[in-house]
Amino acid sequence: MAKRHAGIVGLGTYLPSRILTNFDLEKMVSTSNQWILERTGIAERRIVDKETTSDLAAKAGLRALNDAKVKNKVRKKDVDLVIVATASPDMIFPSTACLAQEKLGLKNVPAFDILAACSGFSYGLVIAESLISSGIYRTILLIGAEAISRFVDWQDRSTCILFGDGAGAVVMQETEEGYGVLSSYLAADGGGKDLLKIPAGGAFKPASFDTVERRLHYIKMNGREVFKFAVQSIFDASVKALELAGLKVSDIDFFIPHQANKRIIDSVAKKLKIDSKKIICNIYNYGNTSTASIPLALEEIYRSGKLQRGDFILTVSFGGGLVWGANVIRWSY
Ligand code: ACO
Repeated sequence: MAKRHAGIVGLGTYLPSRILTNFDLEKMVSTSNQWILERTGIAERRIVDKETTSDLAAKAGLRALNDAKVKNKVRKKDVDLVIVATASPDMIFPSTACLAQEKLGLKNVPAFDILAACSGFSYGLVIAESLISSGIYRTILLIGAEAISRFVDWQDRSTCILFGDGAGAVVMQETEEGYGVLSSYLAADGGGKDLLKIPAGGAFKPASFDTVERRLHYIKMNGREVFKFAVQSIFDASVKALELAGLKVSDIDFFIPHQANKRIIDSVAKKLKIDSKKIICNIYNYGNTSTASIPLALEEIYRSGKLQRGDFILTVSFGGGLVWGANVIRWSY
């Protein structure tokens, strides 16, 4: 039997309406708009009010399903798996995927979460592609969703300036040979577990008065070390995924790196020698939305009409774990 190929047949995103600007942050911690802009490239980010991660996931998922219906005649009842990649689940269990599945009215459709920090969407593409190409499932809804602001310490100026909330979703199905997910490269190094983490609230350090008092239920990060790791890992993963796809950097039409810091993106672009016009960067408006950052950036080029059938896209991410990964996708609709 010939190998099946899996690709994206619908795309949708959702952002909470509340905007938190650098000027707002100036009133909360000792920082300045200028410092944040120069060091990160971020001007503002979206922050949830009452909504939770599963709300954002369901709203982005619904938009992706509507897009798949209009563009590729996919029906909601065709969906046979829901995957949510998130670093800010509503609860440890039930999974955010189960909560979003219910909100989407997809009763009895299997659903599970992926926890691979900011690389969750890259990992999710591999899982979805594999399950479709092996013939196990035909239609998969893959969502990256974050209410990561709920895990941000609003007293820690080195992290609270970085993150934002949002969600992006894709519907995936079998596609023609030569289109869809052409190659993927994933990696992890648990040796870097202390560089970026939420120390408490799990089995290692269950929530207690002490953990809350010491603010251990919030994101802790060694920014300088993560920065160095990010530049190298994004570069390595990009090169490996391109090699696996049999492509060169110059073949790529759009480069979508995880939106963590504009300086990281610029450093990688320089190392890769990629044409700056091909780099998609929306960090200015949304900050680091973790697993949602790649689908949110993808949606920008899709909605603007820049993305054409046959275009080659390189997506790449890194995050706490440490984890990193890249995918080469050829746009199919
Ligand atoms: N405003 C003003 N000053 C600040 C702020 C702030 N918001 N934050 C830190 N500083 C100060 C520091 O205290 C330090 O002061 P000191 O020299 O007196 O000690 C000085 O600025 C420089 O600090 P650095 O940490 O060296 O600043 P850097 O240029 O590295 O920028 C940053 C910090 C933006 C966090 C950067 O290191 C970075 O982006 N790292 C990568 C973060 C990242 O990509 N995270 C991904 C998370 S993905 C996931 O899985 C969740």
